[in-house]
Amino acid sequence: MKFTSIKESLEKRKGKVSIRGWVYRERKQKDTAFLVLRDSTDIIQCVVKQDKISKKEWEEIQKILIESSVELEGTLKEDKRAPTGFEIQVEKIKVIGFSEKFPIAKDQSPEFLLDVRHLWLRSRKMTAILKIRSTIFRAIHDYFRSLSYYEYHSPSFTPTAAEGGSTLFKVDYFGKEVYLTQTWQLYAEAAIFSLEKIYTIAPSFRAEKSKTARHLTEYWHTEVETAWQSFDELLDLGEGLIKHIVKEVLSKHQEELKILGRDIKKLEPVIKKKFPRIKYTEALKLLKEKKGLTIPHGKDLRTIEEDKLSELFDTPVFVTHYPKEIKAFYMKQDPKDPKYVLGTDLVAPEGYGELIGGSERETDLKELIKRLKSQGEDIKKYEFFLDTRRYGSVPHSGFGMGVERVISWICGLDSIKDAIPFPRTMLRVTP
Ligand code: 4AD
Ligand code: MG
Repeated sequence: MKFTSIKESLEKRKGKVSIRGWVYRERKQKDTAFLVLRDSTDIIQCVVKQDKISKKEWEEIQKILIESSVELEGTLKEDKRAPTGFEIQVEKIKVIGFSEKFPIAKDQSPEFLLDVRHLWLRSRKMTAILKIRSTIFRAIHDYFRSLSYYEYHSPSFTPTAAEGGSTLFKVDYFGKEVYLTQTWQLYAEAAIFSLEKIYTIAPSFRAEKSKTARHLTEYWHTEVETAWQSFDELLDLGEGLIKHIVKEVLSKHQEELKILGRDIKKLEPVIKKKFPRIKYTEALKLLKEKKGLTIPHGKDLRTIEEDKLSELFDTPVFVTHYPKEIKAFYMKQDPKDPKYVLGTDLVAPEGYGELIGGSERETDLKELIKRLKSQGEDIKKYEFFLDTRRYGSVPHSGFGMGVERVISWICGLDSIKDAIPFPRTMLRVTP
């Protein structure tokens, strides 16, 4: 038998087909069984009549439960009442693997679905998300490759912090204390002196004691670093990346977005409009005037403030020029006003939080040492990084984008946990 996927079978519209997959729904009557079969591509209704198959086949069908795997052959027929408009009138059927009673029924709690995540991955919802996730990873690679970036890799065990000590995971490394990486950045800055334009997609780890819908302890981090690149060019690069991703998802995944109930009108402005770029002080002003929120100058924007800000825009918005004290040590001081840094957060629409964090990099060696010391860091551990400023330093900039944040927003998910197959959070490391 030559098998075709369910999607290919539906496209054929008539004639004989052989398909294989899993039983998505089943209903047995006295002499007829209705099976809805699913594979990775779609679902299709299959009708099995007792008098069309052998006695042995009919006996097997009596034992079929949801998620049994089967192969079958039959004739396609258009049927408006069937879930995908066609049905297969079955002529041959073979059970490949019987299923025990499947533990997932309707209306289960999100926690239970996470407990049986290994089985819930089979749902139409998770299948749709995982397909979009795959497209997004490809879109990221294509985007950077099309701009002549090299893919480059940094270690996951690191002796240093880059994004502050509070979210470091400690690892016992043969008796020495090291950390799981929060970012590739310090190792990326070393490599721009050979490759100039580099990017990666790799896991980052954050010991976030946060139970919000947007924090994971292990997430996939797209990072990019570019020699000679100005701050404005950095923003252009980030905007281009987000636009490319959204364009790819909209062109390839209408079906999946429909399954997820995503209102795609909300994504259309992202492709068409330029993302606003506002300074931190302007953001505070907007929040006060339009949302009645008073935030003292010098305080970082947290979840609530980001969400309120996002209500004012229908595209992501770049917030730039944050006060130096609230941002990482490596961000370049604004030459026009050294109280601020040339750093940015790209805030998603609809309350999906920060998609991108990035900056132009400080190249002044003394300033870097001063800021590391003020954070209580041991300079010795950073010598390898400081060397990048000692031997032919150049202006450069880069950013990091949380891939699950982007997936969560584009798919319109309630929680970032559904943007990754097996989410890790403060409260969950299983299954
Ligand atoms: O803003 P962050 O901390 O920036 C950096 O790590 C820089 N070193 C990146 C760079 O310039 N190379 O993290 C970057 C992005 C955030 O904007 C957010 O999208 C995502 O990583 N992110 C998380 N995603 C999921 N769960 C978490 N706990 C995250 N923390 C950060
Ligand atoms: Mg950030």
